[in-house]
Amino acid sequence: MKHRGKKKNSLKVLIIIGVLIIVGGLGYFAYNRYMMEIEKNKLHVYLIDNLKVEINTEILLNSFVKNIDNGVLLNGDNSVDTSKLGKQNLELLLKNKDDEEEKYNFDIDIVDTTKPVIEAKKERNSYVSNKVDLLDGVKVTDNSKEEIKAVVNGEYDINKAGKYNLKYEAVDSSGNKGEYDFTLSIVDDPNNRSFTTSKGFSAKVVDGVTYVDGYLIANKTYSLPNNYGNGLTWETQDAFNKMKADASSLGLGLWISSGYRSYWDQNIIYNNYVARDGQANADTYSARPGHSEHQSGLAFDLNSIDDSFTYTPEGKWVHDNCYRYGLILRYPLGKESITGYMHESWHMRYVGKELASKLYNNGDWITMEEYFGIDSKYQ
Ligand code: DAL
Ligand code: ZN
Repeated sequence: MKHRGKKKNSLKVLIIIGVLIIVGGLGYFAYNRYMMEIEKNKLHVYLIDNLKVEINTEILLNSFVKNIDNGVLLNGDNSVDTSKLGKQNLELLLKNKDDEEEKYNFDIDIVDTTKPVIEAKKERNSYVSNKVDLLDGVKVTDNSKEEIKAVVNGEYDINKAGKYNLKYEAVDSSGNKGEYDFTLSIVDDPNNRSFTTSKGFSAKVVDGVTYVDGYLIANKTYSLPNNYGNGLTWETQDAFNKMKADASSLGLGLWISSGYRSYWDQNIIYNNYVARDGQANADTYSARPGHSEHQSGLAFDLNSIDDSFTYTPEGKWVHDNCYRYGLILRYPLGKESITGYMHESWHMRYVGKELASKLYNNGDWITMEEYFGIDSKYQ
């Protein structure tokens, strides 16, 4: 009896366990279904993969959203502040399926991978020894909006003529480097330079005026600036006065028929001759403007300004005595191919007594071109 009763009890237990298992299983299944349902209706935001943004890019919040499940984005049209480098937290405002607002935060990374842009001249020029500001006119722009100064990279010597290949470089705070190649041509300043003549005299050009061994040169090769000159120099006038006085005591009459002539005076004179005789002929006896010794204030013409003067007592005396006053016969007979001008017995040039005596050469006049070893030819 007892034994039977025990059997009945264990069957009951088994049935209870069986029921529990079935109920539990069904419950679990139902729960799962329920959870899946909730999950299916939950709001989900999917962001794009690349959350790196270049600094100062104009971009809207919705650019970072790839997809949204069960909701809508409310502030997608808001623009994002990309003005500072580094992490930036953004907040999406959304509405879920139940019309409730939800927020979603995420970080973007604001970076600068863009090189600064350099704008400058490709070719720069300077005269030897002149100061040159190579950064003048160079513009650097960068997406970071930083103020970036360019630097010059490369070697050059401002005191040496040459063509130098250089580079501008500009680096932003993120280390992006912009580069820009340019050339610097350093040339001799034609108006301020030094050279040595073929006879070894040192010559220099100062503000466009050429001096050889300290003597001003104005001929077909070496010109004067058009604003140069303002009358005969004191020494020149004084030399003439003394020569005239001595000549006078010998019964000879000397006068200056043409003294200082400005660039513009010479321009008129020369062009009148060109109009009359043609340029090739005019060039044999009249200097082009800027090339006349008359503009230097160191030269003057005597008396009749023509060949007849050569044979007058005055012309003969001047030929052999002007050097005593520091004056020379600038365009001697037979030296036409050297001076570039026909013989002018009337044209005096003041050089001072020392050089005048050397050039007089006992009556066999030497030209300044021969003595110094310089040319007189239009370039
Ligand atoms: N007759 C001289 C060369 C001059 O014109 O200066
Ligand atoms: Zn003259």
